Amino acid sequence: MIIIAPTNNKGGVGKTKISILLAEYITRYLNKKVLAIDFDPQCNFSQRFLKMEIDPAAPEGMMPPLHPDYDPDDPNDTDWEGRSSIAGIFYYQGVVPYPTYIENLDIAPGHAEKLLAVEAVRKNEVKEKVYKQLDLFFKHPEVQNAYDVAVVDTAPSKGPLTIGVIKAATHIIIPSIMEEQPIQGVYGMLQLWMQESHQREKSNPLKLMGILPNMVRPINLHRDILYSLKNNEGISRYIMPVQLSQRAIFAEVDSEDAIPRTVFDLPDTNVAKQEALAVCEYITKELFNDA
Ligand SMILES: Nc1ncnc2c1ncn2[C@@H]1O[C@H](COP(=O)(O)OP(=O)(O)OP(=O)(O)O)[C@@H](O)[C@H]1O
Ligand SMILES: [Mg+2]
Repeated sequence: MIIIAPTNNKGGVGKTKISILLAEYITRYLNKKVLAIDFDPQCNFSQRFLKMEIDPAAPEGMMPPLHPDYDPDDPNDTDWEGRSSIAGIFYYQGVVPYPTYIENLDIAPGHAEKLLAVEAVRKNEVKEKVYKQLDLFFKHPEVQNAYDVAVVDTAPSKGPLTIGVIKAATHIIIPSIMEEQPIQGVYGMLQLWMQESHQREKSNPLKLMGILPNMVRPINLHRDILYSLKNNEGISRYIMPVQLSQRAIFAEVDSEDAIPRTVFDLPDTNVAKQEALAVCEYITKELFNDA
């Protein structure tokens, strides 16, 4: 099973955006079965596909809606309260993915409060308490049989949740805005990737798909930073040959009730769609070539 995750501890760089595009593209154009997983307590990835609800236990956080398969009148359906999230792996509750409006795409949503509790895990416990639970979930025969690819969105942090995902993933992408602070995040992520790579068995590598320049604008700042990265011997080989420009439509389609629902519904002549297609084609070619 391919497990791909965007990672950058700087916020607002496009981790969720590329998660959404990949999940939609892989199901729609490559006919594969995808499980979207939201490992970010902010739950933005979940909100794209589900009507998330405010958690009465933690009003600043979101929780998943009632699952469509839940029947409160069914006497056999008493082992859960009808809501399921990926955080269930930490609470021995199991995970019941939700269907989305796309046929081959399910989502295991986030749950703010339950995921935040996991962020409190100590550094030396991450392997045991986070990675192992995630790894068990991915190795579960039901998950293996149901999905070809998992796309795991991560939080803007280098905390236990993100480290756990990096340890469990087969592939990572580092999206970044071409500005000073996010680029520092890129360097930090490259370091983490190298550390993790050293610890991996040869048969189980963590492949870095590359650094994806996002929200690129035709301004000197973005041009200059991209130019210097491309001319940096240690970095240039990781810069993807594709990018996403800053375009309002990319932000507009990110809500659950957006019209159109996705840039892929736009006409083929639309430049945003063309860019998204080029990015997803590039990433998935690499993804399935070495799978
Ligand atoms: N290429 C783009 N053009 C315009 N808007 C974009 C683009 N990429 C992302 N956005 C918008 O910018 C905001 C931040 O993007 P996104 O949520 O994907 O970043 P993130 O890295 O997941 O953020 P966080 O670290 O908070 O999880 C969102 O509102 C998104 O819709
Ligand atoms: Mg996000």
